[in-house]
Order: sequence, then structure tokens, then C-alpha cells
Amino acid sequence: MTRVLHLSDPHFGAADSSIAEIFLAKAAELSPDLTILSGDLSMRARHEELTEAKQFVASLPTPYLVIPGNHDVPGLNQPLDRFFTPFRRYQSYFGKTLEPEFKSPGFHVVSLNSTRAFGFHADWSEGILSSRQLSRMKNRFVNAERDFRILVLHHPLLAPPNHTRSVVKPLPALLSAISECQIDLVLCGHFHRSLLAVAGSVNGWTCVVSQAATVCSTRLQGEPQGFHEILIEDDHIEIIRYVFDEGQFTPTSTTGFLRDQTGWHPPGLPQSHEIISPV
Ligand SMILES: [Fe+2]
Ligand SMILES: [Fe+2]
Repeated sequence: MTRVLHLSDPHFGAADSSIAEIFLAKAAELSPDLTILSGDLSMRARHEELTEAKQFVASLPTPYLVIPGNHDVPGLNQPLDRFFTPFRRYQSYFGKTLEPEFKSPGFHVVSLNSTRAFGFHADWSEGILSSRQLSRMKNRFVNAERDFRILVLHHPLLAPPNHTRSVVKPLPALLSAISECQIDLVLCGHFHRSLLAVAGSVNGWTCVVSQAATVCSTRLQGEPQGFHEILIEDDHIEIIRYVFDEGQFTPTSTTGFLRDQTGWHPPGLPQSHEIISPV
């Protein structure tokens, strides 16, 4: 069995350092095989925030994989940095690669940087992927062995109930690429809301989606801090949702998924948890 910890959106600069410490102790206790942090490490990529974020990341169980989110670029009050070198500060703390890849026997993790510092769209916090990025992702997966395939991006595929913010664009193209690559598991953050689902194209492949809440920030969106522990064994995934409550992270629910020739399915969940995009 392989154990993956999925955490997101620590937002140093607006983080509760005591919750960060409690998470790190819990993570060490769980002793995962892989830890994945799906973006928004800081508030505005300020040096003091990134210094704190780097200390936190250095304390995560190894190996770990970290990607930037829309908060990891400088704010609009620093237009030169924002428009000309949006990721320079993040890269000076976390390395040049904005789309890190990880391989271990039986596992293959690819990431996508969905953050755009600016663009022709109205909301610059939205997640956008280019066709070039999707092609590169497909090449990375398709030209590799058929290991358990994990995709990590900051912006979510699915909006929680009663939520009006945009999901990553273009979603149909991403779902089609997921189907083509037969990706098993997609990890996202951004909404600060925990959501587990399957997603895929009609008559195509469906993957499991893990969208994590914020792990330790005070920027709550109607639910407490939390993270996901993902247990993978052959054709079975179990995701344990941890929620911060009364000074500790407590497991609150376990959701199972089974794999067949059409992908992953949630045997015990109502249909409303299954989101199929009409591509
Ligand atoms: Fe965030
Ligand atoms: Fe975000």
C-alpha cells in the first residue's frame, strides 16, 4: 500500500503557525510515502512569507512535491515584478521548475502550473492551462510506463455545491487529456474546500479528484483547515479527510474508489458526487 498526503494553500503571511506545527507533527506520525502540496504557499510572494513557507516545506515528510498557486506571484502594487518576472521570487525559494515531476517504482506524478499573473480575462486569480502545457503533460505520461498516474495542479476541476467561482479552464480539454492518459488521481486546492469526486469524459476514463481545504491558513471558506490522507493499493483508493478541530487534526470521513476498465468509481457515493463533463 502507498500512502500519499495531500495538503494545500498554507498561505504563509495569513497562516496560523501553531496549526502548521500541529500539521507537521501529524504528517510525521502518518509517515507518508509521498507528500504533495498543491500551491498557494504565500499571500503575495513576499520574502518573509516565502521564508516561512520554505521552512514549512523543508519540514514536510520526504519525498515531497510542491507547486505554486495564484497567490505565489507578486501583487498588483508591484507591477514590474508581477508582469515581467512573476515566478522569480517563488523560484528563488523552491527551484526553477514550476511543473515538477516525480517518479518512484509504480508511481508517476506530473504537475501543471495553472497560475497566470495576468491575461485578457477579467479575474486573474483564475486557473488557465495552455494547449502546449496539456501536450507536454500527455507526452510525459504517455511516453512513460503505465504506473499509477497522479496529476497535480492548483486550480480545481469541480466547484463545491453553491460555489460560483470558476474552475480551471479549458476544462473539457483537460478532461479529455486526463482520459487519454488514463490518469488515476488529480490533486488540486485553491477553493479552500475539501471535495472528493470522480471526473472524466462521457464514455471515457474517469479519475479520482482530491480537492483539499487550506491546511493552516486563517483564510477559511466556510470550513476548518484540513488535509487528505490517500491510501492506494492496486485497484482501490481510500481517502481519509482530516479536519482541524479542538487543537488537533482528526479523521472525519473515509471515501473509497474502485478501478475498472473505464476508470475510477465511488461505489458508496450518491450520483451527485460524480461529475461527468460532456466532452
Ligand atoms: Fe488559496
Ligand atoms: Fe489559489
